[in-house]
Amino acid sequence: MTQPDPVGILGGTGPLGRGLARRLGAAGVPVILGSRDPARASAAAEPLPQVTGDSNEGAAAARTVIVAVPHAGHAELLTALAPTLAGALVIDCVNPLGFDKRGPFAQPPPAGSAAEEAAAILTDATVIAAFHHLSAELLDSDVPLDTDTLVLGDDRAAVARGIELATLIGINAIFGGRLRNAGQVEAFTANLIAMNRRYGTAERKAHAGIRITGLA
Ligand SMILES: NC(=O)c1ccc[n+]([C@@H]2O[C@H](COP(=O)([O-])OP(=O)(O)OC[C@H]3O[C@@H](n4cnc5c(N)ncnc54)[C@H](OP(=O)(O)O)[C@@H]3O)[C@@H](O)[C@H]2O)c1
Repeated sequence: MTQPDPVGILGGTGPLGRGLARRLGAAGVPVILGSRDPARASAAAEPLPQVTGDSNEGAAAARTVIVAVPHAGHAELLTALAPTLAGALVIDCVNPLGFDKRGPFAQPPPAGSAAEEAAAILTDATVIAAFHHLSAELLDSDVPLDTDTLVLGDDRAAVARGIELATLIGINAIFGGRLRNAGQVEAFTANLIAMNRRYGTAERKAHAGIRITGLA
C-alpha cells in the first residue's frame, strides 16, 4: 500500500496543530509539525505516532499545509514562506478574533477573512479554509468527534482534499461556499467561544461545535 502524502502544519506546536496532528497521525497520515523553533516542534511531535517536528519552512515543503498560527503572525509568516508554498494546497484555519471585557468578537482583516488574506499572499498556492469550529482540546483526546466542519474554497479538487482529510479524522465535512464566504465562518467562532463561556462549568468544560441539517 502506498504511504499517504504528508501534511505540514505551520504553528503545529499550538493546541490546534497538535490536535490535528494527533488525529491525522492516528489515521495513518504522516505529519510534519512546523514551528519557529524546530526543537519545540520535535518535542511536541515526539509522543505522536507518524508525526515529526521541523521548522515552519520544513513543514511548508509538504504539498498539503495547514496554517494553525494566531492571526497576529499569519500574514508575516505566509509572506516569508510564499516561495516554499508555491504549488501547495494550503488549508487555513485561522480565526481573527479579539477579546475584551465583554468577551470574544470578530476582527476581520481588510481582505475580509484570514483565508482571503492568505490567498492574496499565496498567489501560487491553492488556499481553502476549514477546521475553524473544532475544539483543539477534543482533537487532542480520544473522544469521537461529534461535529461538522465547513470547507470553503474556489477549487473543487482542493475542497475535495480538505473534505477527505476531515473525513479521515472522523469529522463530517461539508462544502461551505467559496473563499469569499470565509469571513462569517471565521467570525462565528466568537459566538462558539461565547457559548462555551456561558454553558461550561467548573466540572464540565463546554466545546460548542456546529452541525448542519437538511442536506441529505
Ligand atoms: N485552539 C482551537 O481550539 C482552535 C480551533 C480552530 C481554529 N483555531 C485557530 O487556529 C490557529 C491556531 O490556534 P492555537 O490555539 O493552536 O494557537 P496558538 O497556540 O496561539 O498558536 C499556535 C502556534 O503558532 C506559533 N506562533 C505564535 N505566534 C506566532 C507568530 N507571531 N508568528 C508565527 N508563529 C506564531 C506558536 O508556535 P511556535 O512558537 O512553536 O512557532 C504557537 O504554538 C488560530 O488562528 C486559531 O484562531 C484554533
